[in-house]
Amino acid sequence: MYISPMRNFVANIIMPGDKSISHRAFICASIANGKSIIRNFSYSDDVLQTIQSLRKLGARIDIDKDNAIVIGTKLHPSKKILYTGNSATTLRLLTGFLVGQNIPASLDGDEFLRKRPSSYLIKALCQMGAKISARQDKYPPVKIEQSDLHFIEHHLKIDSAQVKSALLLAGLGSDGIIIKEKNHSRNHTELMLKSMGAKIDISGKIISLGRTELLNPLDITIPGDISSSAYFIALAILLQDSSIRVEKIGLNNTRIGFLQILKRMGADIQWQVQEYNCNESYGWIYAKSSQLKGVEISDSEIPLLIDELPLLAVIGTQAKGETIVRNAEQLRIKESDRISAICSQLKKIGADIIELEHGFIVRQSNLISGKCSSFSDHRIAMSLAVAGAISQKGIELQHANAVKYSFPKFWDYIGTSSLMV
Ligand code: S3P
Repeated sequence: MYISPMRNFVANIIMPGDKSISHRAFICASIANGKSIIRNFSYSDDVLQTIQSLRKLGARIDIDKDNAIVIGTKLHPSKKILYTGNSATTLRLLTGFLVGQNIPASLDGDEFLRKRPSSYLIKALCQMGAKISARQDKYPPVKIEQSDLHFIEHHLKIDSAQVKSALLLAGLGSDGIIIKEKNHSRNHTELMLKSMGAKIDISGKIISLGRTELLNPLDITIPGDISSSAYFIALAILLQDSSIRVEKIGLNNTRIGFLQILKRMGADIQWQVQEYNCNESYGWIYAKSSQLKGVEISDSEIPLLIDELPLLAVIGTQAKGETIVRNAEQLRIKESDRISAICSQLKKIGADIIELEHGFIVRQSNLISGKCSSFSDHRIAMSLAVAGAISQKGIELQHANAVKYSFPKFWDYIGTSSLMV
């Protein structure tokens, strides 16, 4: 796909529902005590994998466009393998959830997910008493056997919301769990379980959950996906004579790291929470063309903008001075090795970027043109789309359809104004 340079970008948009919250909504609603309503869920390949896997386990899910009704039920083992595609969130959250429900299962993923280790999670679940085996103890396929779980107190050594969430979902069926986070990561699971009546207490970085047999049904309108909106916010800030207003967007505190960094870089950006639904906050974001300066990202900020880091590398090419990310080792084991992917592709088109062991240093530089690959990684595809749009002559992007994993309508949003409100 050819991505041509854009002169400016003016938009007033509403994003599809947040992907992380959508996964959690279907999983939790599948066993809730009654009928849940889930509006505006993320109709992405990743979330569809969660829905299909839950259906194989007996979940009763009816979909009408991007709204769903889920009748909570007792799930049962499936003779079929639960195929989770490209979605590590599906694989990891379901692993924890099924351990907690004491349902044996086999889970597998596509060629990319099969290369992504889940060793930390598997070990932690086994400490709770789970019986799990995996290829080389870390890669899918993952096999879960029946087991009884006991109480554990776990100090997370990695900042991963997927791991934290999987442990909490397992904890629903154990004698309780206490999790201590190193740094805050997205807290959608905690907030959702609380809104469904689980015995959960959140006190700073300490989360305590007691055995919870009944969850109340959900009635949720999922806020717009802030990670998906980041690409358009970047365009409005980086291009001249541009501005963006994003409405009904998720503004959960553990997801707005990208907005806070942009502000620190000098961007003309504002946002405001307007409402809460199932403990999730949403509101609006407004941003316009700005002159930026480089910043250094601290360790505790990294989980709050983990999915936006490849995009930050693109933005860093337009900021005066240096933008530095260190200690983002998790980025190497995402849908692709995102450190190597973004550094190599930006370098090809003219960026002054240095790859570090766990991050990068990027300096102000002109993006010109070239042939790039997304490595079939949705976040790399969308970050390079922004790079192409701000480049002098445009770029040729291979594997552009990877956007389907999180945001199938991305190219419509960027290419037309038909989805503007
Ligand atoms: C996610 C958590 C993040 C993020 C992923 C979705 C989630 O992963 O990168 O896209 O929904 O919990 P980690 O927190 O495991 O790094």
